Amino acid sequence: MSAVMEILNQDHRNLERLLIALERQVVHLERGEEADLDIINAIVEYCLTYPDLCHHPKEDLVLRQLQIRKPEVAETVGNLEAEHRKLAETTRHFAAAVHQVIRGGQPASGGFGESARAFLDGYRYHMEMEDTAFFPLAERHLTAEDWDVVDREVEQMVDPLFGGRVEERYKVLRNEIMLWDELAT
Ligand SMILES: [Fe+2]
Ligand SMILES: [Fe+2]
Repeated sequence: MSAVMEILNQDHRNLERLLIALERQVVHLERGEEADLDIINAIVEYCLTYPDLCHHPKEDLVLRQLQIRKPEVAETVGNLEAEHRKLAETTRHFAAAVHQVIRGGQPASGGFGESARAFLDGYRYHMEMEDTAFFPLAERHLTAEDWDVVDREVEQMVDPLFGGRVEERYKVLRNEIMLWDELAT
């Protein structure tokens, strides 16, 4: 597997861990229990930065290479850039709802839960399509030369949460995730 596909697959596994962690908090809210807003906020902050700045652009590069190599196959993947823009919009919408709850110091209402569910569903639907359609097609049709082109362009992109060097603002969330992983095993 090419270096970039390994990163993209790992990104999806990492994102799924975050979605599970977020869903756990959303379920608390739906039951009328208290949720950890710091965790929710750190997750949404991460989703506002890394996926939109690093993950989706890598996928756009892979699709661009597929469009050059096999335009008829790339066509079946659909408009990935438009989907990424829509996902970014859903993320910003959810982030605004999170910030409003934090700023206002008020309990999260029904609208917040809807916005959280839209975010969870949007991400899961999108990743499922990529895991089952886009990634297998890219792996089947791109050549070693194509992957070299993509790999060279993505070398500069670093993950601030799951990468080797964790940014200060993500340290608490990273520790939480490590703890959940230990508890789950
Ligand atoms: Fe994507
Ligand atoms: Fe993706």
